[in-house]
Amino acid sequence: MLRVEGLEVSYGHIKALKGVSFEIREGELFVLLGRNGAGKSTLLLSLIGLITPEAGKIFLKKEEISSLPPWQRVKKGMVLVPEGRRIFASLSVKENLELGAFVSKKGKSTKMEEVLEVFPVLKERFSFPAGALSGGEQQMLALARALMSDPEIMLLDEPSMGLAPKVVGEIYRILEKLKGRLTIFLVEQNINRALSLADHIFLLEGGVLSASWDRKEVDFKFLEAAYLGEEK
Ligand SMILES: Nc1ncnc2c1ncn2[C@@H]1O[C@H](COP(=O)(O)OP(=O)(O)O)[C@@H](O)[C@H]1O
Ligand SMILES: [Mg+2]
Repeated sequence: MLRVEGLEVSYGHIKALKGVSFEIREGELFVLLGRNGAGKSTLLLSLIGLITPEAGKIFLKKEEISSLPPWQRVKKGMVLVPEGRRIFASLSVKENLELGAFVSKKGKSTKMEEVLEVFPVLKERFSFPAGALSGGEQQMLALARALMSDPEIMLLDEPSMGLAPKVVGEIYRILEKLKGRLTIFLVEQNINRALSLADHIFLLEGGVLSASWDRKEVDFKFLEAAYLGEEK
């Protein structure tokens, strides 16, 4: 579904990604773990085309998309739920959702009904300004907006960040529902939550993929060592 070869990204003198390569198969849920500053967000922003890498190639369904602008990548079936949600606070829930559908192949209203079924709370808040929603509801809106584009692969950047455990549980129940319906690439710092859903786990350290495991063979000692000193 998604293949990446030798991705390198720099911000001035800071090398944020130092040659990252991996492949995600259709229908799988991948989790990318790594401490703050490891380069996780940089990787997702490069995949969706908001950052231009210095080197490397990105293939979506075997087609090279490395030089396409973000909207064309969305049109080809990839979508990003960015770090910090990035919803439009002054627009209503309905308007935020409609914006997500700008490239949808299905009719806007059919897709809207489908999405609202997964997120009944958004139905209740349909005409509220998005800025009036709670943090958890805003994260659901960000997820729902991404689904409006009818994606085949969804990239999520730390969806549980800053949310209370109960709300994180709700977000994960939704991810569990979505798993299998589409390919998911989840960036997460909450190891236990992530491991409960993951088919594969990657560890990113200092811009390098330092380890990867199938769900059943995770090396917890290695993971703990990699996270040593990280406040949880
Ligand atoms: N816009 C930017 N300008 C300069 N440096 C940046 C910028 N964004 C990220 N970085 C640096 O790149 C590295 C990776 O950051 P990031 O991808 O945000 O990591 P993560 O998401 O894993 O916390 C860090 O050293 C960070 O300070
Ligand atoms: Mg980040």
